[in-house]
Amino acid sequence: MDELLPFDDRDGSIWLDGRLIPWRDARIHVLSHGLHYASCVFEGERVYGGTIFKSREHTERLFASARILDFEIPYSVEQIEQAKRDVLSSMGIRDGYVRPVAWRGTEMMGVSAQKNTIHVAIAAWEWPAYFSPEAKLKGIRMKTGKWRRPAPDTAPVHSKAAGLYMVCTLNKHQMEREGYDDALMLDYRGLVAEGTGANIFLVQDGKLHTPTPDCFLNGITRQTVIELAKTRQIPVVERHIKPEEFANTSEVFVTGTAAEITPVGSIDDYTFTVGQISRTLMEDFDKLVRSPAKKASAA
Ligand SMILES: Cc1ncc(COP(=O)(O)O)c(C=O)c1O
Repeated sequence: MDELLPFDDRDGSIWLDGRLIPWRDARIHVLSHGLHYASCVFEGERVYGGTIFKSREHTERLFASARILDFEIPYSVEQIEQAKRDVLSSMGIRDGYVRPVAWRGTEMMGVSAQKNTIHVAIAAWEWPAYFSPEAKLKGIRMKTGKWRRPAPDTAPVHSKAAGLYMVCTLNKHQMEREGYDDALMLDYRGLVAEGTGANIFLVQDGKLHTPTPDCFLNGITRQTVIELAKTRQIPVVERHIKPEEFANTSEVFVTGTAAEITPVGSIDDYTFTVGQISRTLMEDFDKLVRSPAKKASAA
């Protein structure tokens, strides 16, 4: 799909507050609390062969993210699951991306938002790879970003909340200006955290090491990759990781719904190979997301 086609000017339908409406009519008022105060949570989900991978987990995370921001989504998990299926069939999407979003509306305009209606929308579109095929083959180029992940008592770090992406966009823009693919984000302690939209794994001495998700999202893809590694008897170590450890790391990859498993070729002056462990897990992940068993459990 043409990336310059604006997102508010496309054909199709969007589910908004309980019903499918024409894509271009899915609008909000400028005095929405979600816009001014970032009282907004969302999901990003991938559709493979007509089925959303780990659909229910994503819906449950959306509800959990909203609760962390002190609001309740006014539907059941089953209603949102059905709504996602309705959007996909009305759009005829077999391989693409689903974006549910929930936000506080217009009743109150201030820090307090106790009486605001909660709105929910679900859109879907065709979407190929997040990083280019070349980058996926050779590994993306990353550089440490200046903005860090905040401490768990500074921001609601376990919610997939819109406001937390402000620093991701700042880091990503800086990297794009400098010719990199993505930023490595450190956390408030200076430890390795993640990419701007994906978790990170390192291979050291044949073992997988990944940062403990104590101040960032414990991604659904991250959890899937840990399971896949265990099936392959690849040891997985979740721990605090210092950036200087990249010096004794042979492979690095990032994981996320958008990124899937994407190898990393370099971070700052450290370089890595797209090695056996990365390739094995990429193949296993590819098979899993397209497997009939996945379809049955995710339907
Ligand atoms: C900041 C950030 N970290 C990690 C992830 C990976 O999460 P998931 O695998 O659930 O998509 C995402 C993507 O949602 C993200 O935006």
